[in-house]
Amino acid sequence: MTRMAIFASGSGSNFQAIVDACRSGALDAVPALLICDKEDAIVVNRAKAEAVPSFVFTPKSYKNKKEFESEILLQLEKHKIDFLVLAGYMRLIGSTLLTAYKGKIVNIHPSLLPAFPGLDAIGQAISYGVKLTGVTIHFVDEGMDTGPIIAQKALEIEPNDTQETLQQKIHKIEHEYYPQTLQQIFSNKGEKIIR
Ligand code: GRF
Repeated sequence: MTRMAIFASGSGSNFQAIVDACRSGALDAVPALLICDKEDAIVVNRAKAEAVPSFVFTPKSYKNKKEFESEILLQLEKHKIDFLVLAGYMRLIGSTLLTAYKGKIVNIHPSLLPAFPGLDAIGQAISYGVKLTGVTIHFVDEGMDTGPIIAQKALEIEPNDTQETLQQKIHKIEHEYYPQTLQQIFSNKGEKIIR
């Protein structure tokens, strides 16, 4: 079974959905490690409650990205991690991890990429006034939300949607769609959906 490290910086509702899918048998994988760059993030408590080991680090206490990613790499090796799943990890992945896990890192982004990459994609979509947005799952490369797209799901923005209501709708999609897509990738059906 694929051993995943989930990378997250915040509330970790996607972390939770992925762990739940593993526990229920919907996702044939092991949530073997949480990597988190914020000591007080809610996701750290979720990992504790689920007995998922975590590596929580403070980026500022390292000289640079190469240094903390080397430390992360040691943890990934220690926990025999096969695949990296980014779920609200608020940093770009650097060359140390990209090289070690080439083609084995995915991310979820709350827009229909290439529209609205980067921070606050939901706010960006509302401000722009688009009528359609959604969720994208993609392989990770050195850019900001730029890697090859694996799967996308669209969602209409209603006239009375606010940042809050749209975020709720997007989260609901993400929580079903991310575990499902991971399952497809791990069961080698990924080829069909990857361009
Ligand atoms: C999600 O909307 C995801 O698409 C984005 O960050 C958010 C993380 O939310 N990359 P959560 O921490 O999983 O609740």
